[in-house]
Amino acid sequence: MAIILITGAAGIVGSMLRPRLARPDRTLRLLDIAPLTAGPREEVVQASATDLDAMTEACHGADAVIHLAGISGEASWERIRDVNIEGGYVAFEAARRAGVPRVIFASSNHAIGFTPRERFPVPDYTFPAPDTYYGVSKVATEGLAALYHHRYGLDAICIRILTCFPKPPNRRALSTWLSPDDAGRLFDSCLTAANPGFRVVFGVSANTRGGFVSLAEAKALGYEPQDDAEVYADEILAADPDRDLPDEEVPALRNLGGEYAIPGRDAPQA
Ligand SMILES: NC(=O)c1ccc[n+]([C@@H]2O[C@H](COP(=O)([O-])OP(=O)(O)OC[C@H]3O[C@@H](n4cnc5c(N)ncnc54)[C@H](O)[C@@H]3O)[C@@H](O)[C@H]2O)c1
Repeated sequence: MAIILITGAAGIVGSMLRPRLARPDRTLRLLDIAPLTAGPREEVVQASATDLDAMTEACHGADAVIHLAGISGEASWERIRDVNIEGGYVAFEAARRAGVPRVIFASSNHAIGFTPRERFPVPDYTFPAPDTYYGVSKVATEGLAALYHHRYGLDAICIRILTCFPKPPNRRALSTWLSPDDAGRLFDSCLTAANPGFRVVFGVSANTRGGFVSLAEAKALGYEPQDDAEVYADEILAADPDRDLPDEEVPALRNLGGEYAIPGRDAPQA
């Protein structure tokens, strides 16, 4: 029976993954600061992902950690440092202490959000160009993933997720959407790929308006996207005030990071 620890399991992505990663021979151990109710073949741990003792305890007996917990958008430096960067360290260090062989980290396109559209499709392993403190926290944790792979031999996969919601929320997401079912397929590929080592892959569906990023490395892990945001295009574009502008003239489509990479969008202060 495989045990998978999912941190931040009460959030949007965690809620999508629970039914899609459930298997008869798997237990999902769900950790969050928010309350959760265990379903069949699930366990719940209410704790902070920044608490090293609690995380090490939660890691005991696990075969993999899926680290989702944290602040999922821009915030003050202090909050990003204390939750996301500390939480990234704790996830890898707890896995090492408990002997968990694999960590899958929910990184973000915002680690490289200032990559301009002239460089689309953005290659796998593109050098950091974070667009926010939030993006910096993803870069820092990708660095920890590399460290814990090279120094301690952990399999460490960073998924630079683009936009993962039940439905694409806006025009940019017609290009960047990762559907719930494709998210399930991608995370499952990361769980089951043999000896992945250290990887940085993009997480996106097979969108008609895609082509923003490479999918080569995700596909090398066995991921085959099947969904396309285009089914929502009419509804989204009807509500878009810029619908008559070509993509290259829409500010939120000039860089991979979208709205986050628009000049003047500074972080809220503490
Ligand atoms: N949804 C997306 O489009 C997207 C895109 C790129 C990256 N990501 C990343 O994926 C992960 C999940 O995103 P989401 O959309 O589900 O976010 P979310 O905000 O819905 O969920 C985050 C979860 O983490 C929990 N959490 C926060 N601090 C915690 C702590 N200290 N200890 C334990 N739990 C804590 C929250 O309670 C929440 O349940 C995040 O790391 C986010 O940065 C998401």
